[in-house]
Amino acid sequence: MDIHLILICLLYRLVVCEPQCSKFDYEEKTLEKMIRTEILVEQVVSDIKQLKQQTNDAVKTVEKMKTELREGYQNMHSENALKLEEYKNTTMQEWKDRLEIKPDVLFLSKDPTTQSPSNNKPIIFGTTMYDMSQSYDNTTGIFTSPVDGMYAFTAQLCLNGGNEYIHYTIVANGQHVANSLLHGNNFCNTAQAFVVLLKGQTAFVMRRSSSMSPLRKNSDYEWCTFSGILIH
Ligand SMILES: *[C@@H]1O[C@H](CO)[C@@H](O)[C@H](O)[C@H]1NC(C)=O
Ligand SMILES: *[C@@H]1O[C@H](CO)[C@@H](O)[C@H](O)[C@H]1NC(C)=O
Repeated sequence: MDIHLILICLLYRLVVCEPQCSKFDYEEKTLEKMIRTEILVEQVVSDIKQLKQQTNDAVKTVEKMKTELREGYQNMHSENALKLEEYKNTTMQEWKDRLEIKPDVLFLSKDPTTQSPSNNKPIIFGTTMYDMSQSYDNTTGIFTSPVDGMYAFTAQLCLNGGNEYIHYTIVANGQHVANSLLHGNNFCNTAQAFVVLLKGQTAFVMRRSSSMSPLRKNSDYEWCTFSGILIH
């Protein structure tokens, strides 16, 4: 009788038990929960990936901006440096020009190397009495300006005899700056010129035309000379 009752009771429980107590139901719920969790995790992972990508992009943008800024700054800096250097160069050059202590330029050379100088060639005054800046070449007759400046040049020529004559000129930087004629009773005369020469430009005395052997040579009393001085 007792066993019978227990059996009935068991059966009843098996058949009538509430659905939530079922093992299948529990597993189904767990599965569902797991799937939902998985989906959530995937979402989170994807979000993280996206966030990472966005962060990377942002970092790249910032890097790019940094590079651009640096380049911009460098360009600006070098442009300014160039301008400053230009300014410094011109200002310094101006002051240098103003403050420059010019060398003493003064020379005198005499005694033409020949009585019959060639046409349109420098007359060579071979004996240099002084030449403070070593600017007159007594083998070519050419003075070469050592600095920019205003110069004075003087040529004195003396005739060999009463029947001689010579047309001559001082040539400075390729230009005739003092044309003269010496003849007859004027035994000596001088020609003078004031000129501006740049450094490296030349000056010399040149025969234009003459009688056969016009120049007086090696006389103690009458000197043929070429001289020059830097005035300023
Ligand atoms: C400035 O002067 C220096 C030295 O003479 C030269 O090398 C440089 O090129 C000059 N710079 C400018 C911008 O003129
Ligand atoms: C020629 O010029 C050089 C350099 O100035 C000088 O040393 C030399 O003594 C000169 N020659 C004559 C003959 O004056």
